[in-house]
Amino acid sequence: MNKTTLLLIAIFLPVALASYSDTVQANPTTATIVYSGNLDGELEPCGCSETGDLGGILRRAAKIAELRKEQPELFLLSSGSLLANASPRDRLKSEYILKGIAALDYDAIGLQWRDLAYGVEFLNSPPLPWTVFNWKKRDIGKFLPQRNLKHGDVELAFFSWLDPEGSPFRQMEGDHNPVSGKTDQLQEALQQAKQKGMLTVLTTTLTQEEASKLVTLDNVDILMIKSAYEEYSKPVLQGKTLILQPGSRGMRLGRVDLKTDGKGNITSWQHKVIPLPKSIPDAPFLKTWYDEYNAKVKAAYLASVEQRKLQQSGQSPYTGSEACQGCHAKPYEIWSKSLHARAFEQLEEVGKSFDPDCIICHTVGFEQPGGYIDTRLTMHLLNVQCESCHGAGRTHADSQGKKPTPNADWPKEKICKQCHTQPHSPKFGFDSYWARIAH
Ligand code: HEC
Ligand code: HEC
Ligand code: HEC
Ligand code: HEC
Repeated sequence: MNKTTLLLIAIFLPVALASYSDTVQANPTTATIVYSGNLDGELEPCGCSETGDLGGILRRAAKIAELRKEQPELFLLSSGSLLANASPRDRLKSEYILKGIAALDYDAIGLQWRDLAYGVEFLNSPPLPWTVFNWKKRDIGKFLPQRNLKHGDVELAFFSWLDPEGSPFRQMEGDHNPVSGKTDQLQEALQQAKQKGMLTVLTTTLTQEEASKLVTLDNVDILMIKSAYEEYSKPVLQGKTLILQPGSRGMRLGRVDLKTDGKGNITSWQHKVIPLPKSIPDAPFLKTWYDEYNAKVKAAYLASVEQRKLQQSGQSPYTGSEACQGCHAKPYEIWSKSLHARAFEQLEEVGKSFDPDCIICHTVGFEQPGGYIDTRLTMHLLNVQCESCHGAGRTHADSQGKKPTPNADWPKEKICKQCHTQPHSPKFGFDSYWARIAH
């Protein structure tokens, strides 16, 4: 939209809305919606520079408490994507983001693909008002297709649409995509809500244009589209639908005060972006949450430092298979030709070599003292090696084989089942599998 169009809308909109509101029935009401978009794992701002020092759950909580004091009947909505999964540390952070957001008492939160990074179960506790219309399974998780909310005398129906095109499962055969692409039921549900005089809100990661193709916007009062980077956009009106675009990274909140005609139709609106600068005090009721989070981050850091120290001082109980080769040339030769010796490449090929959930079975001793850390510090512990099955072998090697390997008395099958579990190796049977790697 160019500047002239915006200007024209700015001039004529109030006129248009005023004349429109003349024609509808009485009993106008007002509604306040406070909304946010992609938090994307930003639990707190780093504060490294003043201009960037915006946002964080502590300030958001304090601001929302203040807004609720002033307007207890406000609706608090999010379009989702709360979590991040770019580094191993993001899991802990994500756990605390869910706990923190739970304390803010959102009315409804849309579900985005990124929220599923750690699986559906991860989202089960604490319970949050996750909403996704086209999720096929209703037996797991706590995802409702729609949320009917009421504050004061305003009824609001909240919907969120998860774009099947963005699904990491979309290329799978059969019925593995957890979302449906059929829109007729959504159309119907929106229409029904509208007929009941409810204010309808639809959030999606689609753009405005894509969303207009998804459903006819006649029954959508507010469309919340894919977040913009950091900054909130000015709302625009498309037909009778108000288009909101939140900003990402939790630096601000959006607030829109609406007048409706009693049938849930918007007759006028005011929009405000609320930045969350340092001057907003941290919410005291989240102090324990924040202290606990920091304590866990610190503990994880110290543990990794300990690991690195062990590694670099050569004290790691793991040696890597090169150290076994000298005394066990034959097993070494057989192993080095097996796919076990290439298991990490498989992860790299599918772009998952950074995901702890995968690394654990495709390396040696991950998350064990002195075990695999990363490709740089512990190159010798990549792939499934001798010590993945026989246990940490330094003591055995240093003793010239006099001390047994740690797993010497394990049943053979138990050794394999550390990794050859049902979901990861459904065809596993000890005899047939052992035959392929016997040494
Ligand atoms: C519990 C252990 C375990 C975890 C966790 C695990 N894998 Fe595997 N992975 C295996 C085993 C065992 C096999 C071999 C399966 C077989 O051949 O029966 C395998 C095989 C593979 C293969 C090769 C498949 C092929 O057709 O050759 C890829 C790729 C792979 N895993 C990727 C991943 C990714 C990505 C993750 C994380 C999302 C992951 N794995 C997590 C144990 C695991
Ligand atoms: C995938 C798991 C696995 C890997 C990897 C593996 N082994 Fe084994 N290894 C076994 C199992 C299980 C046995 C016991 C087989 C049996 O008793 O029939 C065994 C047996 C052995 C034995 C004893 C053989 C004997 O005749 O008593 C030696 C020595 C050995 N492995 C060395 C190695 C070395 C060295 C490597 C790495 C180069 C290695 N293994 C890699 C699972 C593994
Ligand atoms: C300095 C030589 C030496 C090195 C290095 C060595 N081993 Fe051994 N290993 C032996 C000897 C000797 C035996 C036979 C011991 C016996 O039968 O009493 C043995 C036996 C084994 C066995 C069968 C008995 C048991 O304890 O499980 C396994 C498995 C094994 N080695 C694995 C490994 C692995 C894995 C490494 C590398 C981490 C390794 N070895 C490094 C000398 C060595
Ligand atoms: C530390 C985890 C781990 C353990 C323990 C493990 N595996 Fe595997 N296994 C894997 C992974 C990962 C792959 C997939 C490797 C790939 O495709 O690159 C795999 C693949 C295989 C394959 C197919 C590859 C080939 O070379 O033909 C066989 C067979 C196999 N494992 C047998 C066994 C047996 C038997 C045991 C127990 C003695 C065992 N594995 C123990 C992780 C493990």
